[in-house]
Amino acid sequence: MSQISIKHKGPLRGELTPPPDKSISHRAIILSSLAEGKSIVRNFLYAEDPLSTIGAFRQMGVEIEVKSQKTDYPPIPPSSRGGEGGVIIINGKGLSGLKEPKGEIDCGNSGTTMRLLCGVLAGQPFSATLKGDASLSRRPMKRVIEPITQMGAVFKSESGHPPLTVTGGQLKPIRYKSPVASAQVKSAILLAGLYCNGITSVSEPERSRDHTERMLKASGADLTIDGLTVSVRGRAKLDPFEMTVPADFSSAAFFIVAGIIVPGSGVLIKNAGINPTRVGLIEILKSMGAHIRLENKREVSGEPVADISVTHSQLSGIEIGGDLVPRSIDEFPILCVAAALAHGKTKITGAKELRVKESDRIAAMAAELRKMGVNVEELEDGLIIEGREKLKSASIQSYGDHRIAMSMAIAALMADGETTISDTDCINTSFPGFVEILERLQW
Ligand code: S3P
Repeated sequence: MSQISIKHKGPLRGELTPPPDKSISHRAIILSSLAEGKSIVRNFLYAEDPLSTIGAFRQMGVEIEVKSQKTDYPPIPPSSRGGEGGVIIINGKGLSGLKEPKGEIDCGNSGTTMRLLCGVLAGQPFSATLKGDASLSRRPMKRVIEPITQMGAVFKSESGHPPLTVTGGQLKPIRYKSPVASAQVKSAILLAGLYCNGITSVSEPERSRDHTERMLKASGADLTIDGLTVSVRGRAKLDPFEMTVPADFSSAAFFIVAGIIVPGSGVLIKNAGINPTRVGLIEILKSMGAHIRLENKREVSGEPVADISVTHSQLSGIEIGGDLVPRSIDEFPILCVAAALAHGKTKITGAKELRVKESDRIAAMAAELRKMGVNVEELEDGLIIEGREKLKSASIQSYGDHRIAMSMAIAALMADGETTISDTDCINTSFPGFVEILERLQW
């Protein structure tokens, strides 16, 4: 189990391209595997989580070739790459071309792999068992089991937790009102909907990330969006595609906050996805007083992309809740770090979902920021954080959660001595190369 040691050296200056988007990389493999023919995915996130998705579809007979583990997009110096973006060729088998896997499918740490696979497996004429690591085995799966059972699939599990055995069959369409704003739930139902005769629809209380919808449309699916309801007509065939994955905004977030909190910093983050369902953090930080500029806005493979320029800014505490929560759901750990260094109090509410991520992110951030001298009040659905000018160095644990590990590494830049963070192998689930980039940017 590795650990990292970090201390304040000076401002962060320079540019970086974060690793390819994790959510989009998963979906690229899933939809291309279900399409009929050859797809090419460039700048795929060659990291543990999306590799679990590749492993799953290979186990079900899809030929997936890793042509290169290096990104060829855009032409940037290797030193400024985050992670390794690969070129992947997928020979899709069509909606009905998957084979029964031999043995259990291991989803590793990846909730997206497991939940989206539940939707795909629901439509297959076979059974398959999905398992995961210790963290994934604690995460709630009832949220996908319930609607997909209504559609006609049969699940076996120990009180709604992995491992899960899914037995697929002839599905019937449903109109589902999801109690949570979750892209994984929405996507799992839409994927199962591809196997129904008729129209399946999902409504959510607030809008969650819409990558599945964008990619399904691009693959020729008959999909409509009406407010917070997404509907798909089943039994159409999906077309193969060529696409380039943008850099992951959720990985960019660590360097956005680092550039803002460390005095004297100026950082340019290139090719970041700025899908409106993902960038709540920009709105939040701007209302806290951050200087953030989006430059060179463009569209890449149906997703909005920009270069994000940030400079050191004095932040002030605010109240955060409502529909900003799902649009920044993965950014709360790093947002807590920004709040810990803002003037005054920041109150986060409506974020109960954070308790069922790779770790309980409310409890984890409260405990670890307290070790660094921050006054934190834990709420059932959020936190109240009292900002300070400087943090205390400490021995930090990651809870095996990549986003806690990276957030606390950024917090360590503002501590008065050396901070160690233990159990940091988890960083590789989404951001191989994180520590090297952080070292390179520090002056
Ligand atoms: C994801 C959706 C979100 C997010 C996760 C990735 C996705 O989870 O937290 O990291 O790729 O669909 P929920 O659907 O549980 O909100």
